[in-house]
Amino acid sequence: MTLDHVGIAAASPAARALFESLLGAAPYKVETVESEGVTTVFFGDGGRPGAAPKLELLETDAPDSPVGRFLASRGPGVHHLAFEVRDLDAALATVDALGLRRLGEPRPGADGKRIAFLHPKDTAGVLVELLETPRMPRETRRVDVPGGHVAVHVSGPAEAPPLVVLHGALGSTDLEMDRLVRFWERRFRVHAVDFRGHGASSALEGTPGWDDFTADALAAVEALPAFRLFGFSMGGAIALAVAARLGARVERLAVHGVNVRWSRADVDRMIGPMQATLASGGRWAERLEQTHGPGWERLVAQLAAFTEGLPEAHMPASLISAITASTLVSAGSADRYFDVSNAVGLYREIPDAQLWVVPGLDHPIQGVDAEAFARMVGDHLAG
Ligand code: CO
Repeated sequence: MTLDHVGIAAASPAARALFESLLGAAPYKVETVESEGVTTVFFGDGGRPGAAPKLELLETDAPDSPVGRFLASRGPGVHHLAFEVRDLDAALATVDALGLRRLGEPRPGADGKRIAFLHPKDTAGVLVELLETPRMPRETRRVDVPGGHVAVHVSGPAEAPPLVVLHGALGSTDLEMDRLVRFWERRFRVHAVDFRGHGASSALEGTPGWDDFTADALAAVEALPAFRLFGFSMGGAIALAVAARLGARVERLAVHGVNVRWSRADVDRMIGPMQATLASGGRWAERLEQTHGPGWERLVAQLAAFTEGLPEAHMPASLISAITASTLVSAGSADRYFDVSNAVGLYREIPDAQLWVVPGLDHPIQGVDAEAFARMVGDHLAG
C-alpha cells in the first residue's frame, strides 16, 4: 500500500492558480467526476505509475456534494489521503475483517481508477481513500503440446513488442509474475506462460526434464516471429535454452535467480522444503493447492524427482555460449538457494551479457520491489 495522493478541498478556483505558482507547474490533468459532483485537478510527477505522491485539488460548486458539505462544515483544507492497493476487493475484505466502516461501495474515480472510502471516524479522523489501477484486459489462450496444453496469459497493447514471461518451478504466472506483468503490460504485449503441471495448464505425465518445459515454451512462442524473453529460476533456465535454440528470434533476454550447474548441495537445499511440505503440509501446501489445484502433491513429487536429476543434466556450455541475444543476468544477494557465483558464472559465459545483483533480495521473486525491478528489467528488454 503506497500513498498515491493527498486530496485538498478548494473553496475557490484561486486555489488552482495558487498551487500552479507555488509548484511552478500546471496541473497534468483536470477531470470532472460527475458521480461525486467534483472537478479534480492533479498536480505532480506527470501522473506516472509509482511516481511521488500527487496533489488532488477538489473543486465543486455543488453544495450538496460530499466535498461541498465538507467545505461548508470545515472550510478548505486537507480532505483525504489516498492509498494505492494492488487488489481493492482484497483490501476491503481486510477493512471489513478489522471492523472498519466504509463510506459506500467501490466506484469509478478520477484517473481511470477504482476507488473506495473508509469512514474517518474509524481511521483516526482522516478520510482514507483506497484506489486500484485497473488491469489491462487479459486473454488466456490454450496452446496444445504433446500430452496436454499450456495456458498462455496475453495482455497489453496489441501493437507493443511481445514479451514472453516464464515463471519458476512450482510457481505460476499468477503467483510469481503478476506483480511484474502489471508494469510490463503497459509497454509490452505480454505472453505469460504457465508450464505444464503448473497454474492453469494441464497436468504433467511422469518425471519431467528440461526438454519438456522447453517444449512448453517453444509451443507458446510458435506464432511469434520475434519476441523479448524473461525467465525466473527454472523459467530462467528454460529461457536460456529457448534463446540458444531460436537465435535472433529472441531479441532481448533477461533471466533472474537461475542456476544451470547444480551440485548435490543445491539439490538438497531445494528439495528439503518440498519433502517437508509433502509430509506435513503447512502454509506453503495451502498456497500450492490454491495455485495448482488438487494435483499439487503429484506436481511437488514430480519436481522433486526432476531436481534430483539436475546434477547429471547440466546445461552444456556450448548451449550457453550459443546465446546471441543481449542478456541481463540478475540475482538476489540473499538468495537462499543459489549463491551469486551462479549468476556471475552465467554472466561470464553468455557472450553479450550484463550482470545485476539486487541487494538483500532472497530467491522468491514475490520479494522484489516490483516497480523498480520491472523498470530495470523492462528497460533492458526494451533495448
Ligand atoms: Co482522491
